[in-house]
Amino acid sequence: MKILVTGSGGQLGSELQFLKDQYSTFEFTFSDYPEMDITNKDGLKTAFEQGNFDFCINCAAYTAVDKAEDDRTACDNINVLGSKNLAELCKEYDVTLFHISTDFVFDGTSSKPLKEDQATSPVNYYGVSKLNGELEVAKSLDKYFIFRTSWLYSTFGNNFVKTMIKLSENRDELNIIADQIGSPTYARDLAQSILDIISSGSTNYGLYHYSNQGVASWYDFTCAIFEYKSIDTKVQPIPTEKYPTPAARPHYSVMDKSKFEKIFEKNIPHWRTSLKKCLQSL
Ligand SMILES: NC(=O)c1ccc[n+]([C@@H]2O[C@H](COP(=O)([O-])OP(=O)(O)OC[C@H]3O[C@@H](n4cnc5c(N)ncnc54)[C@H](OP(=O)(O)O)[C@@H]3O)[C@@H](O)[C@H]2O)c1
Repeated sequence: MKILVTGSGGQLGSELQFLKDQYSTFEFTFSDYPEMDITNKDGLKTAFEQGNFDFCINCAAYTAVDKAEDDRTACDNINVLGSKNLAELCKEYDVTLFHISTDFVFDGTSSKPLKEDQATSPVNYYGVSKLNGELEVAKSLDKYFIFRTSWLYSTFGNNFVKTMIKLSENRDELNIIADQIGSPTYARDLAQSILDIISSGSTNYGLYHYSNQGVASWYDFTCAIFEYKSIDTKVQPIPTEKYPTPAARPHYSVMDKSKFEKIFEKNIPHWRTSLKKCLQSL
């Protein structure tokens, strides 16, 4: 199995690199910007021509959610054009594409876990670009898996978990949003699931929701991080209005993962279990 990983220096890409030795029959090509820029189709084409890949795992994305509001061209270039480039080349070279999307394609007005076929309506520009990226993949290609994930964190890169731990070093108290509800996702779990699906030879292509199981607010998540790390910084719950950001966030973006669990016969761990594992390896 020859696997191209794009954006391999990010959170998810780094977790794939961490896991690579567990999959000795896979031959990985890890690539990242600027050496492999997914917005540069000619450069990508050369890599596809020479690589003879069976799979591409696209971990490359524009992920600066707030910055995207004023930086729409750059956001679109990476999340829409980049996804289109990859999908078209996967089609041309008969490569199966794993593409990652987000819970931010939803507007947050639901009050029960969101299924894959529920109507999308992004509340911020990042969400719009990720939804358009999904559409480009589905339009160009049959052999694709799209995983919508949420609240991704990892032992690698910058993320909410590391930010909270760092802030706690200098603060006795933190105010954290308690009225945005979602599901944290340990990127290593998602990376492992992708590699297991490749191993299984599954051809159950399509769109899937994937986050850790369970539900949390950012306040709950922070309390759990501090509890498991024995940090005594106090956490105060605040409403979204008290912490305005350039990009709006959905109030509720819990996804229903039953399709993933049924089709791939795989249980997804609870976010608390995965958070403990991540904190142990930090
Ligand atoms: N992080 C979250 O909370 C979250 C939530 C839901 C969904 N997702 C999705 O999950 C996926 C993985 O996210 P992540 O957190 O691992 O992202 P990340 O840590 O921000 O990594 C993204 C990677 O893509 C690279 N990249 C940027 N522009 C590129 C280009 N033109 N060509 C090639 N590579 C490029 C980045 O390089 P530079 O660092 O040099 O820019 C970085 O290495 C993304 O599709 C994201 O949209 C993330």
